[in-house]
Amino acid sequence: MSLAVQIRQHGGPEELQLVNVQVGEPGPGEIRIRHKAIGLNFIDVYHRTGLYPLKMPAGIGMEASGVIEAVGEGVAHLKVGDRAAYAGQPPGSYCEVRVMPAMNVCRLPDAISFETGAAMMLKGLTAQYLLKKARPVEGLDKGDFVLFHAAAGGVGLIACQWAKALGLQLIGTAGSDAKCQLALANGAAHAINYNTEDFAARVKEITGGKGVKVVYDSVGKDTWDKSLECLRPFGLMASFGNASGPVAPFAPAMLGKYGSIYVTRQTLFTHISSREATQAMADDLFAVVASGEVKIHIEQRYPLKDVQQAHRDLEARKTTGSTILTLD
Ligand SMILES: NC(=O)c1ccc[n+]([C@@H]2O[C@H](COP(=O)([O-])OP(=O)(O)OC[C@H]3O[C@@H](n4cnc5c(N)ncnc54)[C@H](OP(=O)(O)O)[C@@H]3O)[C@@H](O)[C@H]2O)c1
Repeated sequence: MSLAVQIRQHGGPEELQLVNVQVGEPGPGEIRIRHKAIGLNFIDVYHRTGLYPLKMPAGIGMEASGVIEAVGEGVAHLKVGDRAAYAGQPPGSYCEVRVMPAMNVCRLPDAISFETGAAMMLKGLTAQYLLKKARPVEGLDKGDFVLFHAAAGGVGLIACQWAKALGLQLIGTAGSDAKCQLALANGAAHAINYNTEDFAARVKEITGGKGVKVVYDSVGKDTWDKSLECLRPFGLMASFGNASGPVAPFAPAMLGKYGSIYVTRQTLFTHISSREATQAMADDLFAVVASGEVKIHIEQRYPLKDVQQAHRDLEARKTTGSTILTLD
């Protein structure tokens, strides 16, 4: 048996209920993992509200770390007793122990704690592919400007540090002056409070009127229009989230108006759709964390039983950096 968080219908944080569930043996290609810590992500909110619909009753959560308890047939990269961490499908990481596909589960290096592992896999692998794979047609060179929204959040603080390590000048936006300071302290070259400043005007000023090569936009509805104004010709609008709501449909003609720009909607799950790709990206993340170039900031911890409050705080923009759910 395992304590697990389930929803019986889409809705508010009150739908997150702790229940006891039966946990069986892993089938072919699966493992059973006993969690040590669980990562909280904004996608968990989309799953809970139904923006990304789930079949009911549904587990929630896509990220955790723990110890491998049992290994199914055909799983070669993990063995019983291994320390491990993952970002992966299906939702259901808010629990003590679970059976799940092994494909996205990676051995956690000894130098990385369980808490850090749970706080960095989904967010860190996302920063990895955004900065290294979701690239503009003209490439990204040292010194180039990129714009990253919600820069003091979970993905944001990792991206600020990793972009600096890559020699990029990341212009971060955030919803308060304190959050802007946090982004700057973590390697952002510039920070803009988009609640008090016109971020498109500031980006033009910072880049000498040229604009940025890429906008990484996870805020969605509220930032979309102005983000397009921030791009230089042939630039890339990399949309990867909808914290403020989904982006409205648009006419392709507007891509010409802003200078033959490109638009992509990226999702981590395309990038980690094979074991090999998952491991290569995880190795890159483990290396940059082990080197100290990227530090994982766990700014909030909630016992699993307080998961409703954790969701309230995340949605109310009260959190910074990573948030984990702890198990006694
Ligand atoms: N597509 C992918 O592969 C992928 C993977 C991981 C994450 N994501 C997306 O990346 C974003 C960041 O994820 P995260 O888990 O690290 O969350 P997070 O950044 O820690 O939290 C979301 C942040 O978005 C900002 N925000 C702006 N408008 C908001 C609104 N109306 N309501 C709530 N927040 C708002 C807030 O920062 P400010 O107060 O500074 O505005 C808030 O702290 C999310 O949109 C998530 O869905 C996408």
